[in-house]
Amino acid sequence: MKKRMYIAGCGGMLGDAFYKFYNRKYTLKCSDINTNDEEWLEHLDFNKFKDYKNNVKKFKPHFLVHLGALTDLEYCELNPKKTYLTNYISVENATYLANDLDIPIIYISTAGIFDGNKDKYDDWDHPNPLCHYARSKYAGELFVSKYAKRGLVCRAGWMMGGGIKKDKKFVNKIIKQILENKKKLYVVKDKLGTPTYTHDFVKNLDILLKNKYWGVYNLVCQDVTSRYEVASEIVKILNLDKKIKIQKVSSNFFKKDYFVKRPFSERLINSKLQLRDIDIMRDWKTCLKEYLENSYKDLI
Ligand SMILES: NC(=O)c1ccc[n+]([C@@H]2O[C@H](COP(=O)([O-])OP(=O)(O)OC[C@H]3O[C@@H](n4cnc5c(N)ncnc54)[C@H](OP(=O)(O)O)[C@@H]3O)[C@@H](O)[C@H]2O)c1
Repeated sequence: MKKRMYIAGCGGMLGDAFYKFYNRKYTLKCSDINTNDEEWLEHLDFNKFKDYKNNVKKFKPHFLVHLGALTDLEYCELNPKKTYLTNYISVENATYLANDLDIPIIYISTAGIFDGNKDKYDDWDHPNPLCHYARSKYAGELFVSKYAKRGLVCRAGWMMGGGIKKDKKFVNKIIKQILENKKKLYVVKDKLGTPTYTHDFVKNLDILLKNKYWGVYNLVCQDVTSRYEVASEIVKILNLDKKIKIQKVSSNFFKKDYFVKRPFSERLINSKLQLRDIDIMRDWKTCLKEYLENSYKDLI
């Protein structure tokens, strides 16, 4: 008999990878507030605790993955109440639910909880979030760590995954401009980080889960980088480096649209995974190439 896994907020870019990986292994129940016509997704607003509880309890899962969140930093800054309800209170509720069922809870945190004053952050560095999104995510991390009977918290960096339909982040924003035939791309030179390929992330998370290594883990691709370097690499992989110019700008250039304070550096290193000898994350350039080939090859 296959084990059962409930995944809440599974309709996004990381949810796509969770579904593809665990669908082979476990009997899944995946829900989201936005089902995007996916037949494997059921509608559920996890902010409605009674509905969340009933839905999960009925399914009797062996694992609860509380995946969803509001991930648009500008939206979160303008809507703090909804942000703390969605990104924090729901995490408290999911933890109660998992404890009640005596099952582990899996929660995803972010590299964005740091203030950027250091170049790189290991698993033991002290977070100091700069915006409502980051505060809400860090609060969730603290709650799961303190109160879950068995809790696994994995911190992701700049997420790559989901393709044209689901990727809301940097890679897709660059690709969209390429598809619009832009010949000059403006990219910030003053933001440093570590990309995180959703498919590698889930594979490595599964090793932690199988080994019952509860606690907080940095979980990002190998090798640190910058937004500018990621954009340059996308253009290079697509053989467009002779046709498209990338203009370096400072973050001020985008301050009207991206007004939320972001850390100068949110680079993570997977120190705990490395010490346990279970860091299977590949370097970000290999993953970016694979991602573009698999998800965008028919478009470009
Ligand atoms: N994307 C990144 O770069 C990044 C980096 C580090 C950590 N993370 C974390 O990784 C996790 C997965 O994020 P992702 O990258 O897959 O983001 P995503 O693509 O935005 O997916 C999140 C999903 O959660 C859904 N959701 C929001 N509120 C909900 C609610 N009340 N009930 C049910 N579902 C709800 C969203 O629906 P809507 O689209 O309708 O809002 C969306 O489908 C999140 O916890 C996020 O904080 C993301």
